Amino acid sequence: MRPEARPRVGPGTREAPGPRGTAGARDAPGPRESHAVLSAVTRVYPGARPVAALGPVDLDLRAGEFFAVVGPSGCGKSTLLDLLAGLSRPTAGTILFEGRPVDGAVPEGLGIVFQEDASFPWLTVRDNIAFGLRRAGTDPAETARRVDYALGFMGLADFAAAYPAQLSGGMRQRVCIARTLVTRPRLILLDEPFGALDQQTRLLMGDELLRLWRETGATVLLITHALDEAAMLSDRVGVMSSRPGRFIDLVETGWPRERDSRLVAEAGFGTVTARLWARLRDESLKAIGGPGATA
Ligand SMILES: Nc1ncnc2c1ncn2[C@@H]1O[C@H](COP(=O)(O)OP(=O)(O)OP(=O)(O)O)[C@@H](O)[C@H]1O
Ligand SMILES: [Mg+2]
Repeated sequence: MRPEARPRVGPGTREAPGPRGTAGARDAPGPRESHAVLSAVTRVYPGARPVAALGPVDLDLRAGEFFAVVGPSGCGKSTLLDLLAGLSRPTAGTILFEGRPVDGAVPEGLGIVFQEDASFPWLTVRDNIAFGLRRAGTDPAETARRVDYALGFMGLADFAAAYPAQLSGGMRQRVCIARTLVTRPRLILLDEPFGALDQQTRLLMGDELLRLWRETGATVLLITHALDEAAMLSDRVGVMSSRPGRFIDLVETGWPRERDSRLVAEAGFGTVTARLWARLRDESLKAIGGPGATA
C-alpha cells in the first residue's frame, strides 16, 4: 500500500457527464489509435534510500485493446498503474491519456480496480457498487439497473444487503470490480483483480471481463501474476524486467476478439504461455535473488 497514492474515498473512477454514448464517446479515440501513451517514464520513490521502482518505460496503449502486464513481484507494476491513473507523478517522462497529459488527478473516463481490497466497510454491497454512479449523479433508475446487472454477473445478488465484513475475500474483490465496471470507464486499469479468487472463479470472471470489454469497446490494462490469465485474456502482453521494471518483451497473442476461457485448450495457448515464462524466468530469479539468476 502506497499511502500517498491511494484516494481516501471513491472508487477512483468517474462517470462521463451525460449518458454513455454522448459525452463519453465524444472524447474516446477510434480503434487502433493511441489511447494512452507513456514516454520514457521513470519513478523513483524518494527517501533516505531512494527506490528506483520503474522505468524507463515506453508504452503505446491502443484504443480498445486488452493489454496485460506480467512481471516479477516488486518490479513496479502497481507503480505503473498509479502513474497512469494520475495517482502519483512520474519522476521523469510524460503520460498522455486521450491526448491530454495525466497530471496528478484521475482523468475522467478512467477506472481503477486496486490490488488491495478497497471496498467501503460502512456501505452495503449494493451501495458500494452504486457509489461511483451516485457520485456522478447518474439517474437513479439507470443506477439501479446497472447495479442489479452487476450483482447478477458477479454472483452477489444474494448479498446485496450484506456489508463487506460479512463477505469472503474473493467476494469483496468482486464488489470492487463491479463498482468500477458499472461506471463504464473508457480505460480500465486492473491490478491483480482476481488474486483472491479460486482458479474456477478466476476463469469465469475472466470470461465476464472479456464480454464486458467486447460490449463496451473499452481499453483494458490488466496486471496479473498469472501467466495463463495474461495469455488467455489479452491481445498483447507486456513482460516486465525485475525492478526497476522495463518492458523486455511485447507478445501479440493473435486471438480473435470473440474468445473465452476455452482458449486454454488451443495449441497456441501453450506457445504463448511458454514464451511468457521463458522471458520471465530469469527476471523472477533476479527478483528473488535466487541461484541461477543471470546478471
Ligand atoms: N510508497 C513507496 N515508497 C517507497 N517505495 C515504494 C513505495 N511503493 C512501492 N515501493 C517500492 O517500489 C517497488 C515497486 O513496487 P510495486 O508495488 O510497484 O511492485 P509490483 O510489481 O506491483 O509488486 P507486486 O507484484 O508484489 O504487487 C518495490 O521495490 C517497492 O518496495
Ligand atoms: Mg503490485
